[in-house]
Amino acid sequence: MIQVMNESKTTPMRAPARQPLRRVGPPPPGEQPALLIEHATKRFVVGRKRKSVVAVNDVSMSIRRGEIYGILGANGSGKSTLIRLVSTLLTLEGGRVEVFGHDVERDEMAVKQLINRVSVDAAFFKKLSPHENLAYAARLYGLDARSARAEAIQILARLGIGEKRLSRPLEQMSRGMQQKVAIARALLTSPTVLLLDEPTTGLDPRSKLDVQTFIEEVRDTHDATIVLTTHDLAEAERLCDRIALINDGRMVAEGTPGELMTMVERDYGKEPTLESVFMTFTGKSLDDDVDEDKDDD
Ligand SMILES: Nc1ncnc2c1ncn2[C@@H]1O[C@H](COP(=O)(O)OP(=O)(O)OP(=O)(O)O)[C@@H](O)[C@H]1O
Ligand SMILES: [Mg+2]
Repeated sequence: MIQVMNESKTTPMRAPARQPLRRVGPPPPGEQPALLIEHATKRFVVGRKRKSVVAVNDVSMSIRRGEIYGILGANGSGKSTLIRLVSTLLTLEGGRVEVFGHDVERDEMAVKQLINRVSVDAAFFKKLSPHENLAYAARLYGLDARSARAEAIQILARLGIGEKRLSRPLEQMSRGMQQKVAIARALLTSPTVLLLDEPTTGLDPRSKLDVQTFIEEVRDTHDATIVLTTHDLAEAERLCDRIALINDGRMVAEGTPGELMTMVERDYGKEPTLESVFMTFTGKSLDDDVDEDKDDD
């Protein structure tokens, strides 16, 4: 069973979670969600025995324009699959997904114009420089190369990457820098829904902070709705207006960081931290891996 827990009427927030001035929570009746996911299901057939794995299992969420919405789950819990379903890279087996009212299957082109995705391992031409990669992307997106270049320089400067670095091959850059270039590339299209799959995994603390600050800036300056997956509880608490906890493909809890922490303390007598929220609802620690070979001999 999905336990979608909206505790809008709960006791006062105890946790020092970032409380934005904007209203957060699911869109009120009559307001079109930026992203609507209803009963999304996706199964994969894996291995020699063609075992069926339900990667996303009857997940529903309604995300409001301007929210930063976090999807938190252990390795293999289905986060990337869910992101790929929204970004039209995978087809749904059941349920539906809409971006500003456009159905991902019936209206794929409209959806593609509204979204962009940055995956944890962004694909680049590694022998080419960031400039060349961004120019290529701009051409693919049908953008004017000159203004795309100016925009990219500006975005990267805000991420702490100077213009000098932009002409060297990408393979000579650290992973952190490559990730920043990937975010800059995604922003070239001015997406209204930005899907960030583990945007800060593998980054050093400084780069992580740069990217996190940048994500907030993007939300505020680009009128963007951001969905991000993460393993990092501090990041989820800092950035996310609401968080969905995913376990084995199912959503097991949803709420603001403050609501979730209040809930574990009040209902389970646990310490009000996101770590205890995670442990309580998933029975796992974030370091646990799904055993993909179980039952597969
Ligand atoms: N293309 C695929 N073919 C077969 N199985 C897949 C495929 N993609 C994902 N899976 C399986 O679906 C499940 C969910 O995987 P997914 O990558 O969505 O998890 P995740 O939460 O993003 O994990 P991580 O934190 O490691 O990135 C896993 O059991 C995975 O093995
Ligand atoms: Mg993933």
